[in-house]
Amino acid sequence: MKINVTENVTSTPCEVLVIGKFEGEKTPIEFVNEYVIEKDKFEGKFGETYLIHTLGKLPQDKILVVGCGKKEDFNAVKMSEVTSKAVKKLQQIKAKKALFDFDVKEDYGKYAAIGAFIADYYFDKYKSEKKDRVEEITFAKFSAKQVEEGIIFGEAMKFTRDLANEPAQNATPSKLAEIALGIDGIDTKIYDKEQCKEMGMGAFLAVGQGSAQPPKFIHMKYSVENPKKRIAIIGKGICFDSGGLDIKPAASMLTMKDDMSGAACILGVMKSLKALAPDIEVHGIIAACENMPSGSSYKPGDILTAKNGKTIEVDNTDAEGRLTLADALCYASELGVDEIIDIATLTGACMVALGTIASGVMGNSEELIQEIIKTGEESGEKFWQLPMFKDYFNGLKSEIADMKNTGSRFGGASAAGVFLQEFVDCPKWAHIDVAGTAFLDKPQKEFISGATGVGVRTILNYILK
Ligand code: BES
Ligand code: MG
Ligand code: ZN
Repeated sequence: MKINVTENVTSTPCEVLVIGKFEGEKTPIEFVNEYVIEKDKFEGKFGETYLIHTLGKLPQDKILVVGCGKKEDFNAVKMSEVTSKAVKKLQQIKAKKALFDFDVKEDYGKYAAIGAFIADYYFDKYKSEKKDRVEEITFAKFSAKQVEEGIIFGEAMKFTRDLANEPAQNATPSKLAEIALGIDGIDTKIYDKEQCKEMGMGAFLAVGQGSAQPPKFIHMKYSVENPKKRIAIIGKGICFDSGGLDIKPAASMLTMKDDMSGAACILGVMKSLKALAPDIEVHGIIAACENMPSGSSYKPGDILTAKNGKTIEVDNTDAEGRLTLADALCYASELGVDEIIDIATLTGACMVALGTIASGVMGNSEELIQEIIKTGEESGEKFWQLPMFKDYFNGLKSEIADMKNTGSRFGGASAAGVFLQEFVDCPKWAHIDVAGTAFLDKPQKEFISGATGVGVRTILNYILK
């Protein structure tokens, strides 16, 4: 989909003109007020749409009126949602070109573009029959700069969704490494198995040792002169999670190609930095491997030594994400960055707690956690804080090592959090659990089923703050 900006407004001929209508208010177009509002009593409740043919009375063939709800409740995120609604409607009527003319703040253009991208998304590269797509959208009145930023965000999300939707047969650790190496404006270093061994990454390597696919540790760096601060963002990169020897039942394994959604998010973010040019240094880190059962797999009872020297008794090979993140967190801590944020499809327990609606967030810095929650709200993504009481660590106590990788089934998201904390040496760290939000079984709001690209909008906005 192509997105343009124009200053020419309602006189431009086009297939469909899309306008917004607030509850209790008229629109700037008399024709619409007369037929849609007065005659047909269209109220403009949030997300409702009304399509009207102009029968030659206006330069546009059709007008799509989108309900924007109450004017006082409207905001940038809602702009994104109504734009998604409109694009979905345009797809339905097989429209190819549309002009959007909304009477709202001109800086909502960023979120309009994001909404358009979200709704335009289909993963149909493997389908013989492709979806109906809107080819071109032109936004009137919005600032071109804001729309451009929205396009960068939208493209980042699309990239992340494509990568997380890609079958594990293709989205291998080596593929992630190749993508990272190809990102413009970023310095990338890939560590292979031997180099990871030298660095002492015993936890990460154990997880990958049962797979035919070699593990890859990926470190990307975006630098600027005199950075305001230095941060590391880490994405869980399990390219397939079979559970390992503690193998998952078929139904739970079905979507486990998505277990690198955190990594896909980090790649999407890193890919956008050159164009967005933030004034901070950003390290993108991914410990990529597969969790597979085989004769060479790590086993329950094995004792692993992580990069910081701490030992872990393997209680369950399906709690692999925290093992790979452990070494990634040690690595990031050694960089001496000011802040670390990790994003991971980490626990089914988080999904049970928050469903597919909100991602869990926890960490050692209340300030950072609150900032992520707030930035999420502004970005259209929901985050909910989960506790990290020390008591959760009791369940992880081991008789023969410093800790076990799992304990009780209950409070599993928090237990994973306190486990990760053992490997963090940084005063500001937040852990985001996206197990429930990264991949949808069925459509939800403006998202089709499959990968959502969760985290991209919030982390990018956080970096730009
Ligand atoms: N990748 C899964 C978590 C997950 C579950 C992600 C559902 C997305 C949807 C993770 O590696 C895992 O298997 N976690 C186990 C941990 C348990 C063994 C303590 C879980 O949540 O069941
Ligand atoms: Mg697992
Ligand atoms: Zn996993």
